[in-house]
Amino acid sequence: MPKLSDLLVPAPLRKTPKPGEKGVPKTPAPQDLKDNPPEQQTEYGRLGEKALEAPTEALAWVDQRMAASGFLTGMLFRKVPKGTNWFYTLGSATLIAFVVQAITGVFLAMFYTPSTTQAYTSIAHINNDVFLGQFVHGMHKWGASVMVILIFLHMGRTFFFGAYKYPRELNWVIGVVLLILTMTMAFTGYLLPFDQRSYWASIVGININGTGPIVGPYLSDFLRAGPEVGATTLSRFYAIHMLLLPGAIIALIGAHMYLVVKLGTTAPPWTKADKPRVAEPTTNLEAGVSGNGYRPGGASTIAGVQLDTGPGDGTAHA
Ligand code: HEM
Repeated sequence: MPKLSDLLVPAPLRKTPKPGEKGVPKTPAPQDLKDNPPEQQTEYGRLGEKALEAPTEALAWVDQRMAASGFLTGMLFRKVPKGTNWFYTLGSATLIAFVVQAITGVFLAMFYTPSTTQAYTSIAHINNDVFLGQFVHGMHKWGASVMVILIFLHMGRTFFFGAYKYPRELNWVIGVVLLILTMTMAFTGYLLPFDQRSYWASIVGININGTGPIVGPYLSDFLRAGPEVGATTLSRFYAIHMLLLPGAIIALIGAHMYLVVKLGTTAPPWTKADKPRVAEPTTNLEAGVSGNGYRPGGASTIAGVQLDTGPGDGTAHA
């Protein structure tokens, strides 16, 4: 495990530095302390040191009551496989895009009115009158496209790197549900400005859903929430967009991240697995097996038992 900076370790747990380390002089202390007294620390120095300790002490206080540091250390100091590259940041980038959408969405909801007569004017009010309104609205609008692009790129990365295979199938399935929810988020958000474009685009989208087999007509009826797209459709889309979907996405991202931490990330397919490390046995247990049970080009066995060499992809088990 990487060494924590001394500042992050509470004072009582810090190791005392040896002579010659961290500013501790190598030479022995002067024999005659009366003639050669050590430098006295000033009141200011003591206060400064205490101020530096304060955040660590506060964290230690919380940690003593929550015992969270073990979990956090496991989360933050995980081993990653060799060959990890920039493509591995696409999942985190999708996560950041979602967080940006959630934060900007909260501020938009403070000014938006989900009514057929006021939705459009409330958006115009956000853009024209509210402090930084146009900026926040722009971030939310463009951020939606960014999140959709990133989620597809992330899915492509996990597919082409074979990360959907055992034991990560469940994480792939959770990812597929996240993809559907993200697309539904973009679809339901599109109607909210209630201008000509969003109105007609939603009618097209609802009709496309209606063409699906068996559930299609029920789905389009549910989305339309009445015979025509109107006030009830807008309320339904708004509730789905800002309550139902964010809740479901947050819960599924939690499960997705739990599995990423639990299973570790997949090594790139072009990296070779390390030779299995097997303890040196003293005798040959099986004819044709070399001293350490490793048969070049074949499976490793001890006494005829197949060794579990892990996923064979250098993956770290968190
Ligand atoms: C809101 C959407 C999503 C978020 C926030 C998200 C986030 C993440 C993060 C942070 C990782 C770990 C780092 C990385 O490998 O990039 C990850 C891994 C993974 N994600 Fe996603 N993801 C999302 C959607 C998806 C989708 C749509 C799929 C596939 C259908 C998917 C499948 C996977 C798989 C299989 C892994 C494991 C990768 C490995 O072991 O190398 N994720 N995800």
